[in-house]
Amino acid sequence: MKKNKGIRYVVKKDGKFWPSDVMKKVVNMTDERIYDKAAKNPVKFWEDLAREGLTWEKEWDKGYVEKLPYFKWFEGGKLNFSVNCVDRHLSHPDRVALIWVPEPTKEKPIKITYGELYNKVNKFANVLKENGVKRGDVVSIYLPMVPQALIAMLACTRIGAIHSVVFSAFSADALKARIQDGKAKILITADGYYRRGEPEKLIDKAKKATEKTTVKKIIVVNRIGKKVKGKKFLDFDTELEKADSYCKPEMMNSEDTMFILYTSGTTGKPKGVIHDTGGYAAQSYWTCKWNFDLHPEDVMWCTADIGWITGHTYAMYGPLLTGATTLIYEGGPDYPDPGRWWKIIQDNKINVFYTAPTAIRMFMGVDSKWINECDMSSLRILGTVGEPIDEKSWMWYFNKIGGGRCPVIDTWWQTETGGTLINVLPGIGPFVPTVSGKSFPGTEHVIVDNKGKPMPKGRQGFLAQKSPFAPGMLHGVYNNHEKYVETYWKKFKKMYDTSDGAYLQNGLIRITGRTDDVMKVAGHRLTTAELENAIHDNKLVGDCAVVPMPHKIKGQVPIAFVVLKKGNGSKKIEKKLKEYVDMKIGPTARPGKIFFIEDLPKTRSGKIMRRILKALLIDEEPQGLMTLINPDSVGKIKDVINANKGS
Ligand code: PRX
Repeated sequence: MKKNKGIRYVVKKDGKFWPSDVMKKVVNMTDERIYDKAAKNPVKFWEDLAREGLTWEKEWDKGYVEKLPYFKWFEGGKLNFSVNCVDRHLSHPDRVALIWVPEPTKEKPIKITYGELYNKVNKFANVLKENGVKRGDVVSIYLPMVPQALIAMLACTRIGAIHSVVFSAFSADALKARIQDGKAKILITADGYYRRGEPEKLIDKAKKATEKTTVKKIIVVNRIGKKVKGKKFLDFDTELEKADSYCKPEMMNSEDTMFILYTSGTTGKPKGVIHDTGGYAAQSYWTCKWNFDLHPEDVMWCTADIGWITGHTYAMYGPLLTGATTLIYEGGPDYPDPGRWWKIIQDNKINVFYTAPTAIRMFMGVDSKWINECDMSSLRILGTVGEPIDEKSWMWYFNKIGGGRCPVIDTWWQTETGGTLINVLPGIGPFVPTVSGKSFPGTEHVIVDNKGKPMPKGRQGFLAQKSPFAPGMLHGVYNNHEKYVETYWKKFKKMYDTSDGAYLQNGLIRITGRTDDVMKVAGHRLTTAELENAIHDNKLVGDCAVVPMPHKIKGQVPIAFVVLKKGNGSKKIEKKLKEYVDMKIGPTARPGKIFFIEDLPKTRSGKIMRRILKALLIDEEPQGLMTLINPDSVGKIKDVINANKGS
């Protein structure tokens, strides 16, 4: 058995973990004074970082302009994002940019150097142009974790097209809604991908989603060897092969939209979060440099899918901006066995590993021989993201995966923030289980009451961000100014509302979770309203409510309470409704359980009291029954829950 030995990057002092002297020697940032220095003049601080970290065609006229609810970074500056990710690393054309690990073990991993990536991105940019894509057009991307996804996204940025990536496990309906909002003319997709040993078809969902939409052409990656016929369809690799090998990069304004990414809001309709070019690039680059301490010779593996913001920023753009190597993996974490991930770390000598607490909790339940067998001495930094991590899971990750040698960086951020914003820096510390840490230098978060007044130290409150807002922050909601204002800027005066709760613990920020109707299911973001809308659409359903319930591995799972139009519920109807959710949104949203009840607890004004349902689920005494118009419903729901215990 190989022990997880290696260089010790952390030491224990006064009961806390700190960077060791070795870590301090190798790490990009060790100076604690950076926080104060940045706070004195955050705009100048970010201007200096943007100048040092990125390649600009023209420098900006103004570093920061704020006219709330909007603000601009590097106004007047011009750059091309793909030049920053690829062209400028061509002094080392043979350095590997991307390692792709396919799921089937009989297929060998593929390595793409910066030189090859340059060639492919240029060619695919020309394919897009030949198919009529122009600067400012939206291109929809519905791809699994294959190298073509990165090539397609980078090609969009080369010609100034806006990409809108949709998670490949989302349903045809979910894809359609996103295509319609962006009015995309082109969809880039695949025939399928491999998941747990089986080919999973994607093309049928893509076809269905594009019916009666603006999409004129569908460019298809041939991954599982399915024949796709029709005038509308083009083969990704054939088109790429045919295309010219140079595409002049379009110089974009720093403030031009680079991509939109849809995320769950408080209503049923997902919001298209807008990210710009220069500000996003600056935050992606520097958070990779300082949080993950990326050096060009490092290999980073962020396990997030490119359908999520973590996949955008840390599985691809951030590592490429810094000229390092990024690894992406196509398949299931425990396929063909629970040793798969750890073997990938061993075989590819991963230095920085970034994943979600859900995955950590899942592996905690697996025989540790799968981990102990692998040599993970290459690891230097571990990261987590997406949900609060409990102390036991943090310690397990630290000891088992990091061999007690590597810091665990608990990064707090959101789709809206573009890049990480609250965490401890690996060269500074301390690394405290369950605590995220400090605002990234040059940004400021405060913990306030519901009127925006600072909470006394140590008391829990709402987490808000102060001006100047971080450069990677969203620049609006696509086609929906009202939603942007209402969601982020209404609650507090001149502060961004994160919708998270937090408190200070010894000067470091500890996140307590969402304060709105957003759930985090296995790290994926969902709203109760989104799911309720989907279930409601089914013709059998009269009324319904969805609430999150704590779950040992996934963090939370959605539980649905359904009133049928007629008749009683059954296992068969439950299955039918779950399949219906799969079709409307995707399996990530599938309710853990559906309870069929006679009536939902409602107030006189008709508001569903989800709070009561939540309490009943966790066996707590529900409060506020007096406000209900139908207090009898509560006892009956309790009976239904009890009758279903264990099922
Ligand atoms: O509640 C916070 C939680 O994830 C939310 C953002 O979700 P999403 O937009 O999907 O982005 C996830 C990846 C960036 C936040 O509002 N969250 C994210 N990171 C953490 C976290 N909660 C606790 N600790 C974290 N480190």
